[in-house]
Amino acid sequence: MDHFEIRDGVMHAEKISLETLAAAVGTPFYCYSSATIERHYNVFAAAVAGLGDGNPLVAFAVKANPNLSVLATLAHLGAGADVVSSGELARALAAGIPADRIVFSGVGKQAHELAAGIEAGILQFNVESEAEIVMLGEIAAQLGKIVEIAIRINPAVDPKTHGKISTGGADAKFGIPWDRVPAAFALAAAQTNLRAIGLAAHIGSQLTDLSPVEHTIRRLGDLAQQMEAAGHTITRIDCGGGLGVPYRNDVPAPPSPAHYAAMVARVTTGWKWRLIFEPGRMIVGNAGVLVSTVILTKEGASKHFVVVDAAMNDLLRPSLYNAWHDIKAIRPQETRVVATVVGPICETGDTFAEDRDIEAVTAGDRIAFMTAGAYGATMASTYNSRPLVPEVMVHGDLWSIVSERNQPAAMLALDNRAPWL
Ligand code: LLP
Repeated sequence: MDHFEIRDGVMHAEKISLETLAAAVGTPFYCYSSATIERHYNVFAAAVAGLGDGNPLVAFAVKANPNLSVLATLAHLGAGADVVSSGELARALAAGIPADRIVFSGVGKQAHELAAGIEAGILQFNVESEAEIVMLGEIAAQLGKIVEIAIRINPAVDPKTHGKISTGGADAKFGIPWDRVPAAFALAAAQTNLRAIGLAAHIGSQLTDLSPVEHTIRRLGDLAQQMEAAGHTITRIDCGGGLGVPYRNDVPAPPSPAHYAAMVARVTTGWKWRLIFEPGRMIVGNAGVLVSTVILTKEGASKHFVVVDAAMNDLLRPSLYNAWHDIKAIRPQETRVVATVVGPICETGDTFAEDRDIEAVTAGDRIAFMTAGAYGATMASTYNSRPLVPEVMVHGDLWSIVSERNQPAAMLALDNRAPWL
């Protein structure tokens, strides 16, 4: 469910026509619907309300969309944040997400990042290695602070998603192998300034099958009981994120938040621990589109190419994961064509869709890549010296440029001419 609808022959984001926005800001640009973000957050939060100790924390995975206004929209709704760098931490705090709702994840946190999290007074660090336990213990001691940690386990499950976004397999770089959890708790207990109070897991993204998640949450519960029996005090279980979103209509939809929550409720019946969830894509995926203009069409030996002004540097997912994003004309068209939709970048990987049945758009027409709100703008680069594109947020009949278009001169100004040149 989203708020991108055709009205009067034009796609609108809430009450604003995407043609109006394109004329005002130029293409390509990302457009977010704040009503859709709000709806998805509220649906998820309502689905998990009452689970665990009755006070779950929904910590939005900032990596999915770190735009300040996106985070501020979520802050207003009471969301927490899952951050993985000091940059994301700074954004979450700047957006008004309280430190005691922030969880810090990541396999390679650096000393200055750990220190930033401690100084900010975040809720917990999800620690992913024995080395990190020692490093965090030392920094906490230097700063004279007591720090709460959860041990992120590697549950050794196959999350059945794309290999590049799967994180739960035994050989993944993430977490501490689950059978080393007792030793990790003992190591943490030996650090005077650490309190190991929880367990965490995140097995992958765009999950469409709940059984590996169920298995993982059961494992977290078993380990938590085991650690309590060993004398540790457990207060929180972090179930991670990963719930998939529908990218196309012709494949079965991923489980809904209600289905997900029903599974969690079943597995966690009787638990007294506070539950943490880290949804990213589920909150923002369908809340964003990338709007682009067709530059030209051309006929190859056997292919009909539609060349658009967005490229793989703006939306990397099709190139990187073969991901599918629906392509819709901003002004719907009756006639259709089988087209290969490409950007202007000088490599074949700059392809959004291959031999896809789409509306018969031609030069000057505008199109939208749907479901681009998660892992879209945030994964953009300036490859081919293309400026980062603006992000626009719509709120009813209001809109605002929430991230400016990079200017070529400003990009060039970051480079220095070496003194010998
Ligand atoms: N928590 C942790 C520790 C994570 O690593 C992630 C995502 C999440 C939560 C949120 O997962 P979500 O609910 O959004 O699935 N760039 C890829 C996705 C990478 C996900 C990385 N970790 C893509 O475009 O599909």
